[in-house]
Amino acid sequence: MWRLDGKTALVTGASRGIGRAIAEGLAQAGANVALLARDRTTLDEAASRIAEHTKSFPLVCDVTDAGQVRSAVDEVVSCFGRLDIVVNNAGGCPFLAPFAETRPQGWDRVMRLNLDSTVAVCRSAAGHLLEHGGSVVNVASAVAFAGAPRAAHYAAAKSAVLSLTRSLAIEWAPHGVRVNALCPGYVSTDLSRAVRADESAASRILGEVPMARWGEPAEMVGPAVFLASPASSFMTGQVLLVDGGLSA
Ligand SMILES: NC(=O)c1ccc[n+]([C@@H]2O[C@H](COP(=O)([O-])OP(=O)(O)OC[C@H]3O[C@@H](n4cnc5c(N)ncnc54)[C@H](OP(=O)(O)O)[C@@H]3O)[C@@H](O)[C@H]2O)c1
Repeated sequence: MWRLDGKTALVTGASRGIGRAIAEGLAQAGANVALLARDRTTLDEAASRIAEHTKSFPLVCDVTDAGQVRSAVDEVVSCFGRLDIVVNNAGGCPFLAPFAETRPQGWDRVMRLNLDSTVAVCRSAAGHLLEHGGSVVNVASAVAFAGAPRAAHYAAAKSAVLSLTRSLAIEWAPHGVRVNALCPGYVSTDLSRAVRADESAASRILGEVPMARWGEPAEMVGPAVFLASPASSFMTGQVLLVDGGLSA
């Protein structure tokens, strides 16, 4: 029930970090995988690892550009003839700032990267998914469940992703499309590099995590494959927190 043989998956932000680990995990489970990100070199490198298991299709695509997203989804469908699994992983928090000092352009940039990108991919994939069924996994964050000083923009965007997840789950259930969210806690990737390098910030963060360590991208794979696969066939509109106990 964990196998994805013959399925096609599309993963955004698949060249590094959590997205890359998830893309590799889906390939190991048997899926052909389309990888989306902006930098061609890292994308090709990630795709070559996947090609050891199944077919991979690297596509340069800025997910904040709805036109590029539409073309990428169309290319995936014409390359593989189907689209079964969508992992909306691209996202991040490009700056920290108190709310009162956050300019509208900064707020919009974070909304575009985390929320609008997910909307654009879901909108472009909807036609294929609703016709044949499928599974959508939206990568949000544990930050969506609490106030986030200096990251109100990021927390608001990720909370909105959870709301979108639940609404689409209800609308798309009759069409055989499941929509769930994966919420990582603190994970060791490029995104968290600066805070991991700051000794006092890192020890304050790890003090909040019962398991007292950073998660690894590979530790997101099992939960993501679970949500993408028939192993979670009666689950939709749900949020899986993978956070070393942070939310407990
Ligand atoms: N790391 C954590 O502690 C943590 C915690 C909670 C949630 N998350 C969430 O998990 C997801 C992945 O995070 P990560 O830590 O793996 O980040 P990361 O290491 O910074 O990797 C981000 C990935 O997204 C791609 N990307 C960034 N902007 C993009 C854009 N506009 N269009 C297309 N691709 C784009 C990057 O490639 P290019 O730069 O080449 O485009 C890269 O492949 C994000 O949604 C993040 O918010 C992370």
